Amino acid sequence: MKQWGHQIVHHFPDFATAHATMTNASQSLYNSPVILFITIPKDSPDWSIFDAGAFTQTLLLTATNRGLGSIVTYNSVRYPAVLHQVLTVPNDQRFIVGVSLGYVADEPINHFRSDRVALNKLLHFR
Ligand SMILES: Cc1cc2nc3c(=O)[nH]c(=O)nc-3n(C[C@H](O)[C@H](O)[C@H](O)COP(=O)(O)O)c2cc1C
Repeated sequence: MKQWGHQIVHHFPDFATAHATMTNASQSLYNSPVILFITIPKDSPDWSIFDAGAFTQTLLLTATNRGLGSIVTYNSVRYPAVLHQVLTVPNDQRFIVGVSLGYVADEPINHFRSDRVALNKLLHFR
């Protein structure tokens, strides 16, 4: 996360621009025309978190395959009480994440590509 923060700042001309751009993106929920909300029943077992993640991953891959950009956001589910009320989602559902979807604008923020951890740091054969 620290490395990501460092890299994103250097993606922009200066810190002030980076900060303003990221804050604005977050506050505008990434200017996406559509947000999908992933929910699970509140009384479901912990395994359902795994299912929701796998489901979301498939969703993201499908969106990409169809030419859509996507971003998983915790920000969009920070106030679940508001979402329950505004979206009339039953109270027995728990919001896990939001997925912003849309066609990607040709903006500097969308040209940022984060580094990936080397495979040998993640995968260990015993
Ligand atoms: C569960 C989860 C929640 C996230 N929430 C946010 C968020 O609220 N705001 C945000 O800018 N990025 C959030 N991210 C990160 C983005 O979805 C995405 O991973 C990030 O833009 C980096 O993209 P990259 O993995 O291709 O580098 C979240 C990621 C995950 C997995």
